[in-house]
Amino acid sequence: MEVIKYAVVGTGRGKVFMSPPEYTGMKLTAVCDLNPDKLIIVKYRFDKDDSIQLFTDYDEMLAKADIDAVILANYFNEHAEFAIKALKAGKHVLSECTAMGTIGEGVALCRAVEESGKIYMIAENYPFTKARMEMKHLYESGELGELLYGEGEYAHAMNAPFDIAPGEYHWRNQIPSTYYCTHAIAPIMLITNTVPTRVNGFVPKIEDQSYRGNEVRLQDPGGIIVCEMDNGAVVRTMQGAFRATSMATRLHCTHGACEINRADGRLTVWHEGFNRGNNPKYRTYEPEWPEEYAEMAAKAGHGGGDFWVIHYFAEAIQKNEQPWLNVYRACAMSAVGILAWKSVVNGGAAYDVPKFDDEEDRKKYENDFWTPFRKEGESDEGMPPRTASPWKPTEEAYAAAKAAWEASDYLGLGWKKSGFAEELALAKAKFEKN
Ligand SMILES: NC(=O)c1ccc[n+]([C@@H]2O[C@H](COP(=O)([O-])OP(=O)(O)OC[C@H]3O[C@@H](n4cnc5c(N)ncnc54)[C@H](O)[C@@H]3O)[C@@H](O)[C@H]2O)c1
Repeated sequence: MEVIKYAVVGTGRGKVFMSPPEYTGMKLTAVCDLNPDKLIIVKYRFDKDDSIQLFTDYDEMLAKADIDAVILANYFNEHAEFAIKALKAGKHVLSECTAMGTIGEGVALCRAVEESGKIYMIAENYPFTKARMEMKHLYESGELGELLYGEGEYAHAMNAPFDIAPGEYHWRNQIPSTYYCTHAIAPIMLITNTVPTRVNGFVPKIEDQSYRGNEVRLQDPGGIIVCEMDNGAVVRTMQGAFRATSMATRLHCTHGACEINRADGRLTVWHEGFNRGNNPKYRTYEPEWPEEYAEMAAKAGHGGGDFWVIHYFAEAIQKNEQPWLNVYRACAMSAVGILAWKSVVNGGAAYDVPKFDDEEDRKKYENDFWTPFRKEGESDEGMPPRTASPWKPTEEAYAAAKAAWEASDYLGLGWKKSGFAEELALAKAKFEKN
């Protein structure tokens, strides 16, 4: 087994990837973040033998660090540019969701993977919960037949605290409500081995200023996407906040149906008399992890998904075979959120998902850099809207948010909460003495 030296970019979500299981061969040797305080703290937490190099400049890290692979956990809509640079520098890439901020970047990303011959995987963890892996097993056994209709949900209700999203232009404060769609669509793609081909988007256009109070997240309450899949099935996904968390997956197939129970995460499978065979009408059960990995998966975040992402990425590099969550599927699932927003903006029109593995088809999209994300200070003129409802944060809300961001030095994700100054002092004492 090869040792795979790798870097993590971004130290929020990125921390999840900093202590991989030993059997994978993964060894963290570099970390990159814009903020040097975060860097030295993660070194203090994760570096057992003083082997992790720290960088505030990504290009410098690619040029100088001793690494075979890069794990991208930087800002949501900026992954493609970073991935392409890494591939061009001969590194394998594991990219957090989403794969790209625009369709044109997706085309460039696919080409870069093909030209580099390196492994690319999207770090989509939601297909790998116990219940969804069991759904895959069940689907592959043939008991359910073929997918007709599916529902995938990733509604994450958050009374968005300021410190998770520091800055008016932070991606979490301006992400349209269809964009965070991969957690909802990827499980259905993996379970049924289908790919979305056409997309419509919808949002409830409700002004709820009274509920939102001093929130500054510029986003509609939630997004609904209807996809046609390449087998002809229809899938409906739900993403955004929607004021009540909901992360179920449901499949209706030619020979039966199954769904994750909203309240307890167990799986219910059911059939009708005419397509039941020897199966009971209803059964509800708690699936098991594969025995060999049960302990590690049970301890990992996001229902075990965080373990499997590293497992499959390392396996792909060790075997030198692209993973199931390859660049084409990564771009297709990411395109769903972009095209659904275009659909919302254009009155519900349907858009084709490019065939990302087909140069002739994807060439049509190579210059499509449509995006509603603004850069700091960029004017709204000529830009697509970020919300469908006319709701806007109040001036008072922005003032309160600004005060909170300044007080936490714009660190984000709860970094400044407890013990930050103490840990920083300990880390500096340990590593800055030379
Ligand atoms: N799969 C999951 O369950 C899951 C969960 C949370 C977040 N995420 C994804 O992970 C990514 C990061 O999320 P987050 O919550 O940590 O976001 P965040 O905005 O809190 O953190 C991003 C980090 O990247 C750093 N960064 C940004 N640009 C950089 C650059 N040019 N060079 C070096 N560092 C840079 C920032 O300083 C920051 O520390 C997002 O794409 C998000 O969608 C996935």
